[in-house]
Amino acid sequence: MGSNRVSDDNVASNPSRAENLQTLIERRAVLRGLAAAGAAPALAWSSAAAADGPSTLTFAELAHGIEDGPAVAEGYEAQTLIRWGDAVSAKAPAFDPAAQSAEAQEEQWGYSNDFIAFMPFPFGSEAADRGLLCVNFEYTVTHLMFPGHKRRDHSTVTRREADVEMAAHGHAVIEVMRDGDGKWSVVEGSRYNRRISARSTDCTISGPAAGHARLRTNGDPTGRRVRGTLNNCAGGITPWGTVLIAEENFQGYFSGDPQKLGGVEGRNHARYGIRPISWYSWHRFHDRFDIAKDPREPNKFGWMVEIDPYDPTWTPIKRTALGRFKHEGATCVVNRDGRLVVYSGDDQRFEYIYKFVSDGKFEPGRRTRNMELLDKGTLYVGRFDGIGLLHWLPLVWGQGPLTPENGFADQAEVLIETRRAADLLGATPMDRPEDVEPNPVTGTVFAALTKNKKRKADQVDQANPRGPNLAGHVIEMVPPTRGGVRDHAAERFNWEVFLLAGDPAKPGSGAVYHPATSANGWLATPDNVAFDRKGRLWIATDGAEEHGTADGLWATDVSGPGKALTRHFYRVPRGAELCGPCFTPDDTALFVAVQHPGDTKTSTFAQPATRWPDFKDGMPPRPAIQVIVKKGGGPIGG
Ligand code: FEO
Ligand code: CA
Ligand code: CA
Ligand code: CA
Repeated sequence: MGSNRVSDDNVASNPSRAENLQTLIERRAVLRGLAAAGAAPALAWSSAAAADGPSTLTFAELAHGIEDGPAVAEGYEAQTLIRWGDAVSAKAPAFDPAAQSAEAQEEQWGYSNDFIAFMPFPFGSEAADRGLLCVNFEYTVTHLMFPGHKRRDHSTVTRREADVEMAAHGHAVIEVMRDGDGKWSVVEGSRYNRRISARSTDCTISGPAAGHARLRTNGDPTGRRVRGTLNNCAGGITPWGTVLIAEENFQGYFSGDPQKLGGVEGRNHARYGIRPISWYSWHRFHDRFDIAKDPREPNKFGWMVEIDPYDPTWTPIKRTALGRFKHEGATCVVNRDGRLVVYSGDDQRFEYIYKFVSDGKFEPGRRTRNMELLDKGTLYVGRFDGIGLLHWLPLVWGQGPLTPENGFADQAEVLIETRRAADLLGATPMDRPEDVEPNPVTGTVFAALTKNKKRKADQVDQANPRGPNLAGHVIEMVPPTRGGVRDHAAERFNWEVFLLAGDPAKPGSGAVYHPATSANGWLATPDNVAFDRKGRLWIATDGAEEHGTADGLWATDVSGPGKALTRHFYRVPRGAELCGPCFTPDDTALFVAVQHPGDTKTSTFAQPATRWPDFKDGMPPRPAIQVIVKKGGGPIGG
């Protein structure tokens, strides 16, 4: 759990900050004004207002709703590209949910597809008809994958099923192409097609923590290797054409009581939320997932992992310089001075936002050398103060409290226990940081804060202004400009709240958007974000069903008259979450990951809440990738 601290509201006198806050206050005043004038909320937020509104997005807005299948705005179509169990390699057998094996799953599309990267040939080109789709498989849902299990009861899972689950985690690279009719398909038998799994893929460990005593385990006394990658949620693309895949909720795979374990690792595992009862059954079959038997194994997870999709033989590398926490993703930008900056959120209630700044500089064309940028640099954590200033605090051993007196013998320990180091520095606990992503057009950085029902009214601050925060919000962080160019390496940014999510017509929601936002335009629980070529923000959600509509995708301008005027574009089937929105370089295709369809509270393998996408008896719902195109072609969104 988080530290439950509220940030220091250090008084500073930054005028731009005061302006930002004023903007928010004014937006709220607009809402209050509508209410005070007696306008019914439904009228104030009507579609008619949006249709006449100032957004640059021209699609006809989709209605809210919850259905068995997905829906997309009129004039667009969504094709299912690949489903859980479909072939990745040429060796893959046909998917049979009644006869699953780990060996088959290792050749097939995994479960809970999440992050998506479209990597063109060659990398960096505008080519958009063919490329590699790189996709994470975050986690598995036992009671929807196999017959006979209850939700969240892993006591009945067999070893065979546990091994299928391990094989269904990880990542896949597939080659995809578009034909002359605009139809996308997987290139069967492509030499690039590859599965990476938690079960069988060996990874190396690099950076300051590689080889450290606290990474030495029963299976690897060198501290430089690890079997598999876990809970790969979102990610990022490096400027040299590799993919970063984040390890998020790694703690859920381990079993054991940190209190009983005690000592340094007991404290460490408690801070990351390892509990006596695991989310999975894996510890019953594999000792390394039991902290009593292999107490340092969890230290090999929670990292950022780099893979090269253009080399199917490449060994994934866990880059320890980027810190160890529940990484949502990792989005990269080459700074004005050539240094690489990587933004990442730690997705848990009351956790922090981080950025990594490389020591060295990116040099186009020097790919192997550029990869080393991820091993040397400074990790920072954010402290948002109450007047619109964001201070990036360096996590550097020997500086401030990060000393042997506080249990940090070296930089490796600062990175292994990133959260505790950030606690000591006084970082600001946020409302579950999900994607943190720089806008390629404006250079400002958007952070989706998904929700935090545990924040109490007396724990609110300017950056997390609602307690409880049931619907989440989006923050815009503004790096200073130098010579007209954003400086992402700066230690001070400005920031402002971009929108406060939720249904603005609901009394007490505290939601704040553009006043012309329609009854379908509001969203809840922002998670992954993406930008189109015009720099417009596309927000995917995780948890909107609790607010009365399916998860999906909403888009908005980030500046000008349509700022924070979100418009509903796409939604997923009942029980699903929408992940990984990713545009082709020309914006003519938008890939989305439909994660855990049918995962409602009462859904089971025998009686799922939906059987999308197959709708066949005996076939459970299948997480799948959809590709959205405009009918007749053209860029998405208008
Ligand atoms: Fe895996 Fe933070 O969503
Ligand atoms: Ca996510
Ligand atoms: Ca993203
Ligand atoms: Ca999420």
